[in-house]
Amino acid sequence: MISDNWPGYSLDLFTYPQHYYGDLEYVLIPHGIIVDRTERLAKDIMQDIGDNDIVVLCVLKGGYKFCADLVEHIKNLSRNSERFISMKVDFVRLKSYHNDQSMQDMQIIGGDDLSKLNGKNVLIVEDIVGTGRTMKVLLNNIEKYKPKMIKVASLLVKRTSRPDGYRPDYYGFEIPDLFVVGYALDYNEHFRDLNHICVINDHGKTKYRV
Ligand code: HPA
Ligand code: MG
Repeated sequence: MISDNWPGYSLDLFTYPQHYYGDLEYVLIPHGIIVDRTERLAKDIMQDIGDNDIVVLCVLKGGYKFCADLVEHIKNLSRNSERFISMKVDFVRLKSYHNDQSMQDMQIIGGDDLSKLNGKNVLIVEDIVGTGRTMKVLLNNIEKYKPKMIKVASLLVKRTSRPDGYRPDYYGFEIPDLFVVGYALDYNEHFRDLNHICVINDHGKTKYRV
């Protein structure tokens, strides 16, 4: 858990793309820690649902880095153990943010035919759970196709003011209620190419506002 008064790491301690100089406040989670934490989540997931065939449902676009790293770790663990896990990866695309504001309605704007999730063990992989509203809508949609099991893994959980917040089955870090970018999380499609998770500053917000 990252507490509200955690000052983060100075940007000077790491490298990051030059085109983002001046747009960030600090590094909240360095890339190496994300990868190490993901390895542990992969182990937990293997322990719980190894021996099953699973369909990994990656929520685009923000979930692609976490999903790729998580699947890679699960594969490595599976190769080096008695347990064997067979994975298929599918994608679904959602959009619910404009600038740094969550929009009222969430759109499912792509993805495969969800009916093939029928009877399957589904692992939904998300980048971040904020209010949980997005995840609830997605879960409602997927439940219609009667999968055998649904588990949710999210890299981040944001502490929002809402106490009824949804909790994923697996998550990497609980973070303060800040708008973060990097490691595939975006601000109007920018910052996906930043590998650390960072807090954007006012200059960055203005520069990339749409
Ligand atoms: N950053 C990027 N995308 C998001 C966030 C965030 O903090 N919260 C929900 N979607
Ligand atoms: Mg997302």
